[in-house]
Amino acid sequence: MVVCVCNALREKDVREAARTGAKSPARAYRSLGCQVKCGACIPFAHEIIRTERSAAC
Ligand code: FES
Repeated sequence: MVVCVCNALREKDVREAARTGAKSPARAYRSLGCQVKCGACIPFAHEIIRTERSAAC
């Protein structure tokens, strides 16, 4: 599933970034070599990161 249309980021990319330490969408996107543009994806990306990080605990 595509999370961020602007950057063509998929859910698995954002999950992987969260698993390797990204604590926010901005940090996750940066680790993937992009940045937040329109911001429409932020709530979904935030939720993905939150669930991935809580699963790791
Ligand atoms: S959809 Fe992610 S920045 Fe626009």
